[in-house]
Amino acid sequence: MRKKVTVVGAGNVGATVAQRIAEKELADVFLTDIVEGLPQGKALDLQEAAPIEKHDTRLVGANSYEGSKGSDIVIVTAGVPRKPGMSRTDLLGTNAKIVRSVVEQVAPLSPDAVLIIVSNPLDAMCHVALEASGFPKNRVIGMAGVLDSARFRAFIAMELNVSVENTHAFVLGGHGDTMVPLPRYSTVAGIPVSELISRERLDAIVDRTRFGGAEIVDLLKTGSAYYAPASAVKEMAEAILKDKKKILPCAAYLEGEYGIHDLFFGVPVKLGSKGIEQIIEVRLTEEERAALERSAAEVRSTVNELKKV
Ligand code: NAI
Ligand code: 2OP
Repeated sequence: MRKKVTVVGAGNVGATVAQRIAEKELADVFLTDIVEGLPQGKALDLQEAAPIEKHDTRLVGANSYEGSKGSDIVIVTAGVPRKPGMSRTDLLGTNAKIVRSVVEQVAPLSPDAVLIIVSNPLDAMCHVALEASGFPKNRVIGMAGVLDSARFRAFIAMELNVSVENTHAFVLGGHGDTMVPLPRYSTVAGIPVSELISRERLDAIVDRTRFGGAEIVDLLKTGSAYYAPASAVKEMAEAILKDKKKILPCAAYLEGEYGIHDLFFGVPVKLGSKGIEQIIEVRLTEEERAALERSAAEVRSTVNELKKV
């Protein structure tokens, strides 16, 4: 049977995710949005590119949810993005209402789906989605770490003038300025980055990674990044649809792992057809653990704000 992915929100991230999934023939795509004509127009435009891009993916757009029935994955990108000067947390009230309403409508139609949450503030929106869906925790996953790690990898490759394919990097923690890029677990062709890049330059790269989202917002001025975010979502969806058992950093609901309780937080997980199939715990130095705890405190304070929404 053909696989189906629903993408909620046909804006910059949603439409680009639809394009990436379609072009890789990972699944048929159902695109939905509240703006009349937007998902229909984008789905049709992408469908008309199919003969040139040489794929047989079927794309359908609608302003309702019926067509999403029986999806294997539902990707939630609905919400508002940041503008210059805004933090991801500034989006909390507006996006919590949107994500709750979206998930309440989409989840009953695809009760076995894996939910991939993209809307910001990411970790808090995962809490909203977990509660609104009633899904088990392994089927509610946040996208952030794959994007943050890709930024880290891109900057390492630029610094050393090497192929991005040689780079591996890990970023843990919440999707905010306190995220924790881990140079100790980052390598180039298996060589620790600390052997290849000076401490001073590495610190600058870590900082650029932390503020990678803001760097793009400041350049675009009218919204936030979407090409790299869409690629990150596509990589997660592919791991799930193909049951690849791929280890990727994602926001997962922690119940004691890394000493963190009842919180969505970015950690390495194994992604397969059941969603999160394992949370991988790595050993951390005291300094890394302190940074992780700072990040967890920041996420928890945003999640607590949800109670006031
Ligand atoms: P966008 O503004 O281009 O698209 C958002 C779309 O959601 C719009 O088309 C809007 O009409 C739609 N929408 C709003 N309310 C809706 C509802 N109730 N039902 C269905 N659709 C609805 O924004 P963009 O750039 O696509 O970003 C989307 C979200 O993803 C933002 O919250 C942004 O901050 C977040 N984001 C998160 C990333 C991450 O790493 N987790 C990376 C990039 C973006
Ligand atoms: C980013 O990091 C907006 O969270 C998004 O680009």
